[in-house]
Amino acid sequence: MFDIEKFDIKLGTDQIGRNFIYAEEVTSTNEVILNERKLYQEHGTVLLAENQTAGKGRLNRPWYSVDEMNLTFSILILDAKYFRKKINILNFTAAIAVAMSIENLFQLKTELKWPNDVLISNKKIAGVLLESVSSGNKIERLVVGIGLNVNQITFQGKFNVDPTSLKRELRQNIEREKLLAEILNNFEELIETSVSKPKFILDEWRSRCSLIGERITIAENDKTRHGIFEDIDDEGFLILKSNDALETIHFGDVSIL
Ligand code: BTN
Repeated sequence: MFDIEKFDIKLGTDQIGRNFIYAEEVTSTNEVILNERKLYQEHGTVLLAENQTAGKGRLNRPWYSVDEMNLTFSILILDAKYFRKKINILNFTAAIAVAMSIENLFQLKTELKWPNDVLISNKKIAGVLLESVSSGNKIERLVVGIGLNVNQITFQGKFNVDPTSLKRELRQNIEREKLLAEILNNFEELIETSVSKPKFILDEWRSRCSLIGERITIAENDKTRHGIFEDIDDEGFLILKSNDALETIHFGDVSIL
């Protein structure tokens, strides 16, 4: 059971998570918060669910999480100042908020994998899924969904990157309330920075990405590309160098060649 009082004491934000909704079970926190417009109207609203019957990952993959073990939540972004062209930066902002929180609370080294995975010892501990609703080409609602493996120790299924959890790494039970508050505290600070100093976000991301400069493979559906991971651009897209030509990659799964 998630102790909301314990969480509330540690939450130091002005907006993010101030409206906090706790649910035993939903289809997908992203889906609910994005589509239930009447119920979710406040910028920064956070919906945390103990179980998702249709949790979603990137590229239409499912996201599985054992009940009450992990953190599966979404943050509603309604303030248009964050709906900028460089929307990918928000992906990075969320991944960095998770990475920093893990580093600060548990002194574990994290790595980031393009575009928005958080890894520990080459294993995936968290993922981010950004979704939005637009009218014409104007974004109306945006949701940042985060799945973080906390106390789950066994994982079933086939994975692109092997999963891990904080409990697997630290061999102890982790208090989810303090961790969620820390992530939201960091996220609120970083999302402001993403507007005032987007370069800071890009540099924080780069400093945690060990694959820059390496030979990589990028898979998107049936298509694979090979080359050197040159850098990320100002919008957070991946720059791939192959045969001395540079290509900008918008989607895909990165793995080492
Ligand atoms: C990924 O790594 O592919 C992204 C995973 C995102 C999972 C989270 S769990 C909370 C939110 N609700 C969802 O349905 N998905 C995101």
